[in-house]
Amino acid sequence: MYRAIAIVIASCTLGAMAGHANPLDVRALAASCASCHPPAASLPVPLEGQPREMLASRLHGFRDGSLHGTVMPQIAKGYTIDELDALADYFAQARAR
Ligand code: HEC
Repeated sequence: MYRAIAIVIASCTLGAMAGHANPLDVRALAASCASCHPPAASLPVPLEGQPREMLASRLHGFRDGSLHGTVMPQIAKGYTIDELDALADYFAQARAR
């Protein structure tokens, strides 16, 4: 019994150490996107409810320079790959309003 609890605690700690942003962190990251991508906006594009793969591939593309843009390349370069993936997960799961 104690061993099982220890394993659960150990795996949670490892998960946190692997750099996966927790939901609170992702909300904080996503808040800085809202000034240009507010929930109800149609321009540039709403992010909520978009397919996860589309969001992730655009963000990775802006970051690695394969996609051009006015501001997004600079913005995407400010995040780690893990953070961009967490943002893609977050916006894909957020309900379009
Ligand atoms: C300063 C305004 C601004 C901020 C802040 C901003 N964006 Fe953008 N975003 C844009 C513009 C403008 C475009 C169109 C591409 C370009 O010109 O860079 C865009 C395009 C995108 C696209 C591609 C959509 C498509 O259909 O091509 C995604 C995905 C995206 N942004 C995600 C994000 C995320 C996630 C954040 C927060 C980390 C964010 N943006 C913050 C202005 C912004």
